[in-house]
Amino acid sequence: MKIFDSHAHYNNPQFDEDRDYLLGEYLQEQGVQYVMNAGADIESSKAGVLLSEKYPFMYASVGVHPHDVKSMTDESIQILRELSKSKKVMSIGEIGLDYHYDYSPRDVQKHWFLEQLALAKEVDLPVMIHSREADQDTFDILKSNNVENGVIHCYSGNKELAREYVKRNFCIGIGGTLTFKNARKTVEVVEDIPLHNIVIETDCPYLAPVPYRGKRNNSSYLTHVIEKIAEIKNITQEEVAQTTLENAKRLFRIN
Ligand code: NI
Repeated sequence: MKIFDSHAHYNNPQFDEDRDYLLGEYLQEQGVQYVMNAGADIESSKAGVLLSEKYPFMYASVGVHPHDVKSMTDESIQILRELSKSKKVMSIGEIGLDYHYDYSPRDVQKHWFLEQLALAKEVDLPVMIHSREADQDTFDILKSNNVENGVIHCYSGNKELAREYVKRNFCIGIGGTLTFKNARKTVEVVEDIPLHNIVIETDCPYLAPVPYRGKRNNSSYLTHVIEKIAEIKNITQEEVAQTTLENAKRLFRIN
């Protein structure tokens, strides 16, 4: 089985002790063929680009998460613009809105979300969207700015909204939360939308699937997410892995 992990944070300190082993040999031995490292601030965006330049199977997305946009300046946009010139940078993100924690004021979140969407348009890259308890505002902003190329990472909305995203050509990111006991809404989303629009993701080191829930996540655990999607859609695990891999390659324009 060949796997594309469309959203991971291997720059995270939780990987300090065995990062080289995981990225240098272990994950590929487990069938992980591609990894997209997601930036969450300027430092992690830079670190992701360095990882992608070191490991051929890794790619990078650069951007500032809504938690951290309160410290953004115009210079941050300039740094992201420069980083986006690397051959391995295939996406802008994770960017978006987070009304669960509200670590940055909402008007500030919206301002820098718009600025980073404009950057994505300028450099012609797809967007990786983080949205938590901000479903309607996120959708409205993407729609009114005619954004049609991207992924809603760790999708937590309902199936009706997922359908709207699918109509707009978005991919829906599905990860470990699908295997949790309270995943009814996400199970419905997976049932409802075409496999063609689903990409799989760990968000590692966070959100490990059952039976590893609460432990450090890594891309090889995606087999448990694949198994669950196959069960819900009544297709083979091989088809889930292969199609989601092709979807992610199409999304991020990887040949
Ligand atoms: Ni993430």
